[in-house]
Amino acid sequence: MAFHIPVMLQQVLENLITKRAGIYVDCTVGGGGHSQKIIELIYPEGWLIGFDQDVEALEFARERLKTYQDRVVLVKSNFSDLEIVLKSLGFNEVSGIFFDLGISSHQVDTPSRGFSFSKDNLLDMRMDLSKELDAHYIINHYSEKQLTEIFSKYGEERFSRSLARIIVEERKKNSIKTTSQLALVITNFYARHKKGKWRIHPATKVFQALRIEVNKELSVLQEALLQAIRLLEIKGRVGVISYHSLEDRIVKNTFREWEKKEIIEQYGYGLKKLSKKPIYPLDEELSQNPKARSAKLRFAEKIGIKEVSEK
Ligand SMILES: C[S@@+](CC[C@H](N)C(=O)[O-])C[C@H]1O[C@@H](n2cnc3c(N)ncnc32)[C@H](O)[C@@H]1O
Repeated sequence: MAFHIPVMLQQVLENLITKRAGIYVDCTVGGGGHSQKIIELIYPEGWLIGFDQDVEALEFARERLKTYQDRVVLVKSNFSDLEIVLKSLGFNEVSGIFFDLGISSHQVDTPSRGFSFSKDNLLDMRMDLSKELDAHYIINHYSEKQLTEIFSKYGEERFSRSLARIIVEERKKNSIKTTSQLALVITNFYARHKKGKWRIHPATKVFQALRIEVNKELSVLQEALLQAIRLLEIKGRVGVISYHSLEDRIVKNTFREWEKKEIIEQYGYGLKKLSKKPIYPLDEELSQNPKARSAKLRFAEKIGIKEVSEK
């Protein structure tokens, strides 16, 4: 089984790479699908710096990219440390920065990682296995109020309050240890209350919320985008593939904010979106990789104050 099929590969390469002798950063190396094509296009003039917080992903990618190892640096790190890590490696300015958010197929499909309700295992969901907070702790220790808040904010779950209440009741009887135990509590709730027709599995939103909370996905994204804008050279590009509206909103709003004239005047640089609307996978790609169906790609270019006054 493939580790992960890269999404919108061609569209990413066309928008990200502006010169062969550039320094490019893949903040989410995963199985190395995007990374491999990036380095193929820029080797041996350019550099690829790859981040992932998951050691299993990095091991796989290191093997895949070994032909190019003299021009590839792989770092086990959260991309929230983008700036500090790049500067410590001596890369003060870069030509392109790319994020392919979320988790890889390998992570979802490996039962022991505890991401999926369709594969029974201990609740976990940590991308970085050295971190302490996992989904099991959240489900069994967060207060009803905290659970309601994360289900509603990160899962946009309509029944967040009721689900938090039944989870708290359930865990008083037995601790909720596994992905299927949790999925069953949620499915039973929906079945008992005949809550609409299920277009998606009833546990989808709660599982999304847990994953975001375990990995602090939204706050690290916001933080990393600001660092990316600082690190880019003028005409350098930042691109993000997001898979749900909460992530996409952060990307859209950050790009929009950095296009404002007053921001550009204040900092001396800003962004210009490469396209008004996000880029979506083509039907041909979706027919081969249905997992890409929720993907949205946005790109922006860094501009200096001179370009704004010349507009
Ligand atoms: C969708 S996959 C990337 C797949 C990759 N583009 C490919 O073609 O194989 C996302 C990867 O990013 C990593 N990741 C997600 N958030 C991260 C973060 N904040 N810091 C570092 N890595 C992160 C995950 O561990 C996962 O391996």
